Amino acid sequence: MHAKVVRAYMKDTIHTREFSINDYDAAVELWNRVEGLEIAEGDDKESVVRFLTRNPGLSRVATDGSVIVGVSLCGHDGRRGHIYHLAVDPRYQGVGLGKRLVQECFSGLRDAGIQRAIILVANDNPRGREFWRRCDWEELSGALAMGKDVLAASPSMTKHEGRRREGNER
Ligand SMILES: CC(C)(COP(=O)(O)OP(=O)(O)OC[C@H]1O[C@@H](n2cnc3c(N)ncnc32)[C@H](O)[C@@H]1OP(=O)(O)O)[C@@H](O)C(=O)NCCC(=O)NCCS
Repeated sequence: MHAKVVRAYMKDTIHTREFSINDYDAAVELWNRVEGLEIAEGDDKESVVRFLTRNPGLSRVATDGSVIVGVSLCGHDGRRGHIYHLAVDPRYQGVGLGKRLVQECFSGLRDAGIQRAIILVANDNPRGREFWRRCDWEELSGALAMGKDVLAASPSMTKHEGRRREGNER
């Protein structure tokens, strides 16, 4: 482990706080720099503003001085909690920061009355998977993660919409 990071940890210059939209550029820079994460639709600034507004106080950053060294996006839909894009600067990995950010996300989810959280880990991210396992997350072997683009799905493709159109035409 990097000696400077250990010293920063020992001297307590590493802190955590709520993710603010002002941290967005630094977060994107970190997400691009670590292995195992992919920036995708929903990660543009406008979407992240919307996410933070819907989930106030749940997303976290870790800082060393003024530098962002860890990020986690956290939210819930009223039923399940979700943690996205957990990342720790490679120079700061292995000192417990990832675990600390997740614990803080959990604290917020508990306060919001959420009982269970879900994450998606890419198949080609064995290090990420190991981290979650070590933090006692269980693999959902009976479930398959699926997705579909909302914008690409034409409304006229849905049965419901089709029936409504037929009704209007009569
Ligand atoms: C995954 C990640 C956030 C972990 O952050 P971190 O600060 O290094 O993790 P921590 O130091 O808090 O480790 C917590 C526990 O996980 C273990 N762990 C972390 N990385 C591990 C690895 N690659 N292999 C095995 N165990 C690991 C630690 O040993 C520690 O175990 P302990 O609590 O029993 O001591 C960091 O490696 C990262 O940013 N990876 C790239 C992005 C990524 O993959 N994010 C997850 C997307 S799903």
